Amino acid sequence: MKPSALSCTVALIFTAMIGQSAATAGNEPIQPITSAKVTNPALVELGKKLYFDPRLSKSGFISCNSCHNLSMGGTDNIKTSIGHHWQEGPINAPTVLNSSLNLAQFWDGRAADLQAQAGGPIANPGEMGFSHTLAVGMLQTIPGYVAEFKKAFGSDQIDIDKVTKAIAAFEETLVTPNSRFDQWLKGNKRAISKDELAGYQLFKKTGCIACHNGPAVGGNSFQKMGQVEAYKASSPAEGRFAVTGKEADRFNFKVPTLRNVEMTYPYFHDGAANTLTEAVDTMARIQLGKRFTPEENAKVVAFLKTLTGDQPAFRLPILPPSSDSTPRPTPFDRK
Ligand code: HEC
Ligand code: HEC
Repeated sequence: MKPSALSCTVALIFTAMIGQSAATAGNEPIQPITSAKVTNPALVELGKKLYFDPRLSKSGFISCNSCHNLSMGGTDNIKTSIGHHWQEGPINAPTVLNSSLNLAQFWDGRAADLQAQAGGPIANPGEMGFSHTLAVGMLQTIPGYVAEFKKAFGSDQIDIDKVTKAIAAFEETLVTPNSRFDQWLKGNKRAISKDELAGYQLFKKTGCIACHNGPAVGGNSFQKMGQVEAYKASSPAEGRFAVTGKEADRFNFKVPTLRNVEMTYPYFHDGAANTLTEAVDTMARIQLGKRFTPEENAKVVAFLKTLTGDQPAFRLPILPPSSDSTPRPTPFDRK
């Protein structure tokens, strides 16, 4: 029976158990990332501006890029995010890089896709603290935006659906192909070192691959945090249970992508692990009941660092200026 004919997890464990070493991408449980195909450049360009525009927040100070900084692997590199009025968020900000590959968005998967997700932060009182009506009203007063919406949608009537569609179209371009590991998958045997390859073998043999697989090396299932040993989180989040209300889903979280994981510290939904060494040690122990030696841990970490791909590269967008009638931001308004 061909491994590819088996259902996913079983096939992956099977693959891991036979300790496959041939670098043929087709047989590996991780596939290379493919570059994004842009079908509507005007829409992507508009989405990029909106992504960087802090005027979509009540304070006029917070943009998507504040918490998903594209200079820092699409994250904020802090334990939990800081939102409107310096509020401390309840959960770690996941990367937006390769988020189009996720089976759903958020740690608990409560948004079906990127468009459904994008409206959330704008109106979240703890994030951008604005409202959809105010955001759309603000954009409508900026002639540069009105012209760009017209170009992208053929209409100068702005609504939240168009705003989130444009942001999602931009996010779909935030993929990171061409990592050294992908070059290896495609047959370049010299793209990764002996230790990095040994780390990949350990990653498969130990069973990490059962949950972290596919092109994103994760992002495609919800799994319990603490399969073998309970995890004491510093966040009150209950995971998938919050969405389904099913007891079996309590403390199940979306398996995060491990692409660019070297850049997306700190780790876990509560941001409690500061280093990859710590995250790998915790995972091995609580998910698989395994204790890595320091040498084994270092090899797995070395492998994980080969997953850093080409970061999105583009000109910094220059935002169209506010007009005389654009409402001014109210950063210190406590209401
Ligand atoms: C104040 C910080 C903050 C701002 C601003 C913010 N986000 Fe987030 N974002 C987060 C946090 C925290 C999460 C995780 C929340 C959760 O899972 O419950 C998240 C989750 C996401 C996810 C899901 C990723 C995944 O793997 O599940 C995407 C996509 C995303 N944000 C895009 C955006 C976009 C687009 C904007 C602007 C419209 C934005 N964010 C603004 C903090 C922020
Ligand atoms: C049973 C499924 C499962 C297995 C097996 C598993 N993981 Fe995970 N992994 C997860 C889940 C779920 C999370 C997120 C948990 C959370 O934050 O609550 C995660 C998070 C991580 C993170 C942090 C990523 C981030 O951005 O926060 C790393 C690194 C990681 N795993 C590596 C590994 C390694 C290495 C192994 C093998 C030793 C492994 N995992 C085994 C499910 C699994």
